[in-house]
Amino acid sequence: MSSTPAPRLTVIGTGYLGATHAICMAVLGFEVLGVDVDESKIARLASGEVPFFEPGLPELLTKALDSGRLRFTTSYEEAARFGDVHFICVGTPQQAGSEAADLRYVDAAVTSLAPHLDRRVLVVGRSTVPVGTAERLTGVLRDLAPAGSDVELAWSPEFLREGFAVDDTMHPDRLVFGVASDWAEERLRAAFRPVLEYGAPVVRTDLPTAELVKVAANSYLATKISYINAMAEVCEAVGADVKDLADALALDDRIGGRFLKPGLGFGGGCLPKDIRAFAHRAEEMGVGQAVSFLREVDGINRRRRARTVDLVCELLDHRPEGARIAAWGAAFKPNSDDIRDAPALDVAATLHGLGADVRVYDPAALDNARRAFPQLSYGESALDVARGADVVVLLTEWAEFREIDPEALARVVGHRRIVDGRHALNAAQWRSHGWEYRALGRS
Ligand code: UDX
Repeated sequence: MSSTPAPRLTVIGTGYLGATHAICMAVLGFEVLGVDVDESKIARLASGEVPFFEPGLPELLTKALDSGRLRFTTSYEEAARFGDVHFICVGTPQQAGSEAADLRYVDAAVTSLAPHLDRRVLVVGRSTVPVGTAERLTGVLRDLAPAGSDVELAWSPEFLREGFAVDDTMHPDRLVFGVASDWAEERLRAAFRPVLEYGAPVVRTDLPTAELVKVAANSYLATKISYINAMAEVCEAVGADVKDLADALALDDRIGGRFLKPGLGFGGGCLPKDIRAFAHRAEEMGVGQAVSFLREVDGINRRRRARTVDLVCELLDHRPEGARIAAWGAAFKPNSDDIRDAPALDVAATLHGLGADVRVYDPAALDNARRAFPQLSYGESALDVARGADVVVLLTEWAEFREIDPEALARVVGHRRIVDGRHALNAAQWRSHGWEYRALGRS
């Protein structure tokens, strides 16, 4: 670390984003205090347990706790006393009954912290928020903090992907610093010094641009996925093959193959709610037309789930009642136990609603799935749920599903029928073993 003392950091909100940030920053050498209102979460983290599935993070939590640089608290007063730079990392889910983002946790974090801020500090928003939030919160801090306008707000959105959270935090593609002064930029540079030394580029900008970068990035990614899935719909209608189409598009450098994987589409705690909140906010700001295509992006994505259900039903001669279906996958993507807006569980629950006997297996998300969808049955392995199945449907592309031997599976199922919702399997290989193989966008 440099000769000027490193700032002491607090991380408010110890969910996915915050816990990862707190742990990684402590490993990188900062003194860090993690803050949350959820006492049980704080107790688990303090005892060395990461409350969610993220490869590599448990080992780093142990390392950070052993170093003595990482502690946790539920006290905002303690946080204010400790911190020079306060990171706000709480969630911004979709509001119930609306497409807008629910800002109650962000607001609560700022209004709980502010009354204790009696010296010059920087508060940094990392959560994904509607544009204009930072400006509003700047006023809240000025009004509520004893140090008044000595407390500054910056916005630095977080781009981490679940499953790659550690690497994305230590070696991000870029850091965006939305600031209102040179002092705020200098503080941010100090608070990210080791990450900057690894070579992460910085874009310095104003507060609204920093807020927009995040939703613009997620909207672009969602649009790219829905684009190839729209092509899948066309392919199905004309007897073309979307996998070959995507391979050919990917070879064009200007397009590239990332986020061009056709299939069941996107889910999770970010992409779906972020595009909806962005469209909603744009309408509020009078520029709804500029992003009205996001409604279409959402619509294409939802249709993929319905179409996957159709493919299963087609294999059952449109008689799903009583059929035994093995559903492989529950998490919204592999290497995660996150089931928020998971396409896999949406499909499984719809098939169950049609009267099918659906048995679900996922390598990491079973406990979460059981809690959210108690009406479904669950099994302990991919082969276990496939016993006697009329159709196997692959919904999340975990490596262990890709690697299953078609012959071993054939020995346990009732019928050799498989729907590959993620284009994860080799169609020719499965067909050569006598399987009826179906995938979205392929004839
Ligand atoms: C996303 C953004 O990538 C990240 O930058 C942001 O900070 C949070 O939102 P995450 O939700 O972890 O991250 O998942 P991501 O890996 O982006 O995948 C999102 C969804 O898109 C998954 O359901 C995935 O299965 C799906 N997807 C992805 C596709 O259907 N096709 C693709 O080609 C890529």
